[in-house]
Amino acid sequence: MGAAAAIFGCEGVNLSLGGRQILKDVSLQVRRGEVLGLIGPNGAGKTSLFEVLSGRYVAQSGRVTLDGADVTREGLVARSRLGLARTYQSPAVPAALTVGETFRAARLAYAPARSRHEAEWAARLVNLTVPWDRVAGSLDTFDRRKLLLACLMLRRPKVLLMDEPASGLINTEIDELDLLLRTLVDEYHLAVVVIEHRLELLDALADRVNVLNLGEMIAEGAPGEVFRNPAVRAAYFEGAA
Ligand SMILES: Nc1ncnc2c1ncn2[C@@H]1O[C@H](COP(=O)(O)OP(=O)(O)OP(=O)(O)O)[C@@H](O)[C@H]1O
Ligand SMILES: [Mg+2]
Repeated sequence: MGAAAAIFGCEGVNLSLGGRQILKDVSLQVRRGEVLGLIGPNGAGKTSLFEVLSGRYVAQSGRVTLDGADVTREGLVARSRLGLARTYQSPAVPAALTVGETFRAARLAYAPARSRHEAEWAARLVNLTVPWDRVAGSLDTFDRRKLLLACLMLRRPKVLLMDEPASGLINTEIDELDLLLRTLVDEYHLAVVVIEHRLELLDALADRVNVLNLGEMIAEGAPGEVFRNPAVRAAYFEGAA
């Protein structure tokens, strides 16, 4: 893929934590309107790569670029202003706030603040149908994920990094998530990188899949092709991690 076509990516990332090398010469690129899947056994370094991509961890070497700019030295907040959004493995919502208050806090975080009308738009976008006076901490996993995603959409991100968005969801919810992400990508031309263990979600959703094992990218390609790759199957089933 030509570098000019990618809106977001990294090149040659090496990350050590506590004296251990966690990522080795990792590169990844994603275009607008594309869903890139990121898979790999437990402990492969997927979340650590997201920490580097989002600006929470500083890698020892390598480059991160966003929308034509080198953001390697920019932190989480600066990258988020430039259009990068991220969700986490565990959907932590503000436990004591209601849904409405959570939206209000998210709206007021922008300067100038977003209108309530936009929070209603975002709630509809993700099909969040719970009453706004419900306490966010009482929502089930899927509604928490929807609420957090709706808050992120208020920023009109260009790139969305999602860490295991299907974990804790039942099959019908995964189908809904699949449709929802497709809509975001097609209508808002987002570039999405999604870490996922549920391969059935990626099979339907991802345009391409990258495979990380023991901190190294070992395969890249169309989902079906990657899932059949012997090196990938060995990494998963022979307990290489
Ligand atoms: N802050 C840290 N300090 C030291 N080691 C860490 C730190 N964070 C992660 N690691 C180690 O880095 C390796 C990769 O962890 P990471 O969480 O990135 O894997 P993962 O692919 O996201 O795994 P999972 O599928 O279980 O979520 C693991 O061996 C982990 O123990
Ligand atoms: Mg992880």
